[in-house]
Amino acid sequence: MDQIVSLCKRRGFVFQSGEIYGGIQGAYDFGPLGVELKNNLKAAWWRSLVHERDDIEGLDASILTHREVLRHSGHEETFTDPLVDCRACKSRFRADHIEDGICPNCGSTELTPPRPFNLMFKTNMGPVEDASSFAYLRPETAQGIFTNFKNVLDSTSRRLPFGIAQIGKAFRNEVTPRNFIFRVREFEQMELEYFVAKGTDEDWHQQWLDLRLDWWRAQGLDRDHLTVLDVPKSDLSHYSKRTFDILYRFPHGDEELEGIANRTDFDLGSHSKRNTDLELDAHVRANTKSNAQLRVRIEAENKWAVPYVIEPSMGVERGVLAILVESLDSEDLGNGNSRTVLRLKPHLAPIKVAVLPLKRNHEGIMQTARTLRRELMATGVGRIFLEDTGNIGKGYRRHDEVGTPLVITVDFETIEGDGSVTLRDRDTMAQKRYAKDDVAEVVRDYYRSG
Ligand code: GAP
Repeated sequence: MDQIVSLCKRRGFVFQSGEIYGGIQGAYDFGPLGVELKNNLKAAWWRSLVHERDDIEGLDASILTHREVLRHSGHEETFTDPLVDCRACKSRFRADHIEDGICPNCGSTELTPPRPFNLMFKTNMGPVEDASSFAYLRPETAQGIFTNFKNVLDSTSRRLPFGIAQIGKAFRNEVTPRNFIFRVREFEQMELEYFVAKGTDEDWHQQWLDLRLDWWRAQGLDRDHLTVLDVPKSDLSHYSKRTFDILYRFPHGDEELEGIANRTDFDLGSHSKRNTDLELDAHVRANTKSNAQLRVRIEAENKWAVPYVIEPSMGVERGVLAILVESLDSEDLGNGNSRTVLRLKPHLAPIKVAVLPLKRNHEGIMQTARTLRRELMATGVGRIFLEDTGNIGKGYRRHDEVGTPLVITVDFETIEGDGSVTLRDRDTMAQKRYAKDDVAEVVRDYYRSG
């Protein structure tokens, strides 16, 4: 993990938030390369679900959340972690992070019994701080999907099965944020709520598990580094009938990367008006103030029903961390030399092509490099970077380390000779010369074929 943290800071992937004031715990900022990697991961998820399927709609709901939403979702009552205080050093820990009743900070055994601590961040809207202005920062993006269920249904005329996908910030007042960006207080989630008819839910649950494992492999994670945990009944969230966790082999152990839950009719049922003729399976909260009936018409059975929902839910930061861990490689080049290389899948790489002029103070070379950069930009493959340090060896090393798949060198042969450039492949280090005018097409083909 130290290697990852150091690379992230040195090369501009991730910084501690508020670092110049000593840092704020559990919050991180994504730097110039980190934001590209994160955006590429989000785009891959969105493309695979919303653009490439014809049964999923997108949504972007607000972060500020009405208290009633999180009361009826069950979060006010149950979204807690067991908190333990150390009487000696006054540190606080999650009870499940303590071993053998010993304070991890000072070693004392003077610990309080665990008490529930609600993880939701509270705030007030407007100038007056009272109950009427109270709001939560959402702890999951999912509730925005459930509360917009009828809006999406009415505006799109979807029928079961169909899904609603969303990417956005979530906030949790974690007792002990830790392991770099693995457990933080502010993070992004990518959540799909896939609505299905009751009775087909178990089959869909398995299908989504398989689809999600395939997706992670397409992002470059080795299948052997992923395990599936069928979460024991005693550990299930309050809304879940069954959950599969996809665990990744992080440096600190096999830990949750994504959860795929069968949330039954719990949420839509909880937010629906009472006294309906609906048969609900889940235990739902009474006395909702909502006037909505979040249901679908089942024509074959001539009745209304609240659908079941399968929810694949992942944290973007955990995804980024897993991809960095998986991609970071140190390659022995012989004779005591080695190189650090980030073997990112090309579609995730922050920089798609680096253009390296052999000499930075040679106007002819620089001019050609600038023109080439513009031509490559026009291919639309992503960020093209003009690396004008004038040191080819350093440029290769830097771009290997940040995962740039292709580097193109402009030299004297380009401007005075046959007009060719050198294209170097990050993974094989193979170099091949191409006519300057053909190289944009070569780059386009490279990214088209993934
Ligand atoms: N809507 C369901 C839900 O929120 P969850 O298992 O609590 O379920 C889903 O969270 C995913 O969100 C997790 O698999 C993880 O990737 C991510 N996540 C949860 N808490 C996180 C935290 N404190 N920091 C970073 N990511 C987190």
